[in-house]
Amino acid sequence: MPLQDNAINALKSVKNLFKELGHPPTDAEDIFTYVLGITLEDLIFGHHQLSDANKEKIQEIITRTANGEPIAYTIGQKFFWDYYFKVTRDTLIPRPETEILVAAVLKKIKENQPCKSKTIKILDLGTGSGCILMSILKESKKNYSKVFGVGIDISTRAIDVARYNAKNLELDDEIQLICCDWNDLLQHFPDDKFDVIVSNPPYIPSSDIPKLDLSVRNFEPYTALNGSNDGLECYRQIISILKQMDIKDTTIAFEFGIAQSKDIELMMSAIGSFEILKDFANIPRIIISK
Ligand SMILES: C[S@@+](CC[C@H](N)C(=O)[O-])C[C@H]1O[C@@H](n2cnc3c(N)ncnc32)[C@H](O)[C@@H]1O
Repeated sequence: MPLQDNAINALKSVKNLFKELGHPPTDAEDIFTYVLGITLEDLIFGHHQLSDANKEKIQEIITRTANGEPIAYTIGQKFFWDYYFKVTRDTLIPRPETEILVAAVLKKIKENQPCKSKTIKILDLGTGSGCILMSILKESKKNYSKVFGVGIDISTRAIDVARYNAKNLELDDEIQLICCDWNDLLQHFPDDKFDVIVSNPPYIPSSDIPKLDLSVRNFEPYTALNGSNDGLECYRQIISILKQMDIKDTTIAFEFGIAQSKDIELMMSAIGSFEILKDFANIPRIIISK
């Protein structure tokens, strides 16, 4: 599709194309602001012209988007909480419902840790891009003199992306990112005590993966989606590890999938007292320590 020189006219054409293809037209704004390296406000009011290189890049992204690839992968980033996170096809794309987990954890930290000089220590199991851990750390840094986070993931390439994000968000000194299976966690941290343990583990039952939206099943990493037979295997593994740790007074918060609330509540009752929070669509989504 040929693009006009005038950025706004070109944007309008791409928005129309996306409407025809059934893509959110706002995706087009994300593409243009990303390629031009400007804000939406600047794009709208700045009278920008597209260079040939800009046009080529936009064309390439449009083709990939039209083939079903999520916009976050085509532009290589996703806005989550208050920050841009690098994402690749080795990392799950951060979801808005996961921001509820972040908000709930930050509220608990504030309630449970009134002493601002205390070090807040956070563990994230299956960190992916690091979006949960790093959002909590960035926010907590504003209120506490010292914060420290550990993020682990079984995927080396996800850990590489998380390391990039940690550096980009100036968290290198406050974070340790390790590529390991959470089943081996105690070998790495035999006696560590964490104030907060979070996880958004893979929770899609294996047989449901082929039924997922094409953009998810064809592009997002299988290891980030697959929750085995009933979707609950990762929770079983993580709970069994937590049973071997000192989790007295630790805030534990997990995201889970649609219709898993009852099972998760039952499983988690073995390690403490929890409440369930709903997402923006009123679907139970998060379990967090009471
Ligand atoms: C659903 S993704 C969540 C990623 C990120 N925390 C987020 O919310 O966007 C789950 C992550 O768990 C990782 N994972 C799966 N099994 C694991 C295991 N046994 N040990 C450690 N990480 C694992 C996957 O590689 C993936 O990055």
